[in-house]
Amino acid sequence: MRRIAILTSGGDAPGMNAAVRAATLLGVGKGLEVFGVQRGYQGLLDDELIELGPRDVGAIIRDGGTMLGSARCLDFHEAARRDDARRVLAARGIEGLIVIGGNGSLTGLLALTDPAECDIPLKGIGIPASIDNDLAITRLAIGVDTAINTIVEACDKISDTASAHDRTFIVEVMGRRCGYLAMTSAIASAANAVLFPEMDKSDDEVVETVVRAVVRAQQRTERNKRVLVIKAEGVDIPIERLKARVDERVREETGRTNIETRVTVLGHVVRGGRPSALDRMIGSRLANAAVGGLLEGHSRMMTAWTPPSAVPTEHVKKARSDPQVSLVDLEYTLRETKAMLEGTSNFVKWRQKVFAEIEEVLSL
Ligand code: F6P
Repeated sequence: MRRIAILTSGGDAPGMNAAVRAATLLGVGKGLEVFGVQRGYQGLLDDELIELGPRDVGAIIRDGGTMLGSARCLDFHEAARRDDARRVLAARGIEGLIVIGGNGSLTGLLALTDPAECDIPLKGIGIPASIDNDLAITRLAIGVDTAINTIVEACDKISDTASAHDRTFIVEVMGRRCGYLAMTSAIASAANAVLFPEMDKSDDEVVETVVRAVVRAQQRTERNKRVLVIKAEGVDIPIERLKARVDERVREETGRTNIETRVTVLGHVVRGGRPSALDRMIGSRLANAAVGGLLEGHSRMMTAWTPPSAVPTEHVKKARSDPQVSLVDLEYTLRETKAMLEGTSNFVKWRQKVFAEIEEVLSL
């Protein structure tokens, strides 16, 4: 293998640049020519590639987003368009592709390298990057740690006002199909309740969860009656409707008309910003395993921030020189991811159990 390309795709995640940088430096260090694909799979279709060297990636580790740009490319669902992409890579003599992205992006890589479709010697390795942490097997994807820190920082600020005014705040965070960000940031910001899609609650149950936390706070004898509720965006009830229904029910329960909730939607703020040290480390080490994996001839694998001993042996290869990182069969990872998002995997059931247990103590 003489030439490889790196592509970032889907929602950007802080730490993607660390992976681009490490893959470039390690690739060049091993004598490879390294190319960056701009604007994700769309840029690949449009042949928007640039050669990358150490000078191009020198300081990008500090920056959020991705220096290569990203896109969500629906065209890539069509086999004919993937043929076009393979032609672009073949014309440039690129034999190895590293895709840094989430579930959809890595599904695209699996299709691109499918031997049934692919008649060129193309090898591909994925690196998980998604602030939602919605990929199975990897304990953390790139961007998750920074996103949690951003949420906690925002919640600490919101808590100042909530405490001063004895108010309830419902804070909505990203997480379309996975409540990991909501769950972890709720613990780290000492929230009184957390709402996430895996709990599979009806709207009425969601409302009652919040009402219970508010009523408990009102019963406190001390002055501070702050209530912080973290809601994942994937919980169906729109936040304004939730607020209105909570206010109404709290009035019924307490007989008081002056208790009102406030809502804050953090939205894309959660996805931006300088990557944390941990995300820089994870991005760099996963990229190290990806370059090493390509050079060892592996393909259709994902690098995971998980020790090999935690993955069934038939689906895993050791990442040389990094005991914390595994090379996991990509098809298996995406199958596990589907089960996780559909709520049928043992892992999700474990999460539901743990959070059912801690729900009670959060609102104490
Ligand atoms: O990156 C994942 C994610 O942040 C989801 O939580 C969110 O719903 C989605 O991306 C929004 O992305 P965009 O607005 O860029 O399509």
